[in-house]
Amino acid sequence: MSLKTKTLIKIAHIEEIPEDGGIAYLLPNKEQIALFKINHHIYAVQNKCPHKKENVLARGIVGNKGEKITVACPMHKKLFSLETGEAFDNDCEHLKVYHVIVENNIVYMEWD
Ligand code: FES
Repeated sequence: MSLKTKTLIKIAHIEEIPEDGGIAYLLPNKEQIALFKINHHIYAVQNKCPHKKENVLARGIVGNKGEKITVACPMHKKLFSLETGEAFDNDCEHLKVYHVIVENNIVYMEWD
């Protein structure tokens, strides 16, 4: 068994993320994540919409469905929870949700 150490990678300065909006970031494995800032909280999900596999969710429309904070894909408006990744349209897979850490206004992610 090998012990892997996790590295913190810097994703963005919090000021780079528009309030109630998103930005995309390219991970070392070439996957993109979409970061959103809503009420000073950062949410991170895969940027690729499961519907047509386009990297567009960072440009999605932030909103809510009841108590749930959501993003609607800018392409065909499929709706997802930013907190859990849940897809509210039955024909879509859920989004992958990433854990991020904010320290001194910098957004970090643990990376293997
Ligand atoms: S590509 Fe996102 S809803 Fe169609």
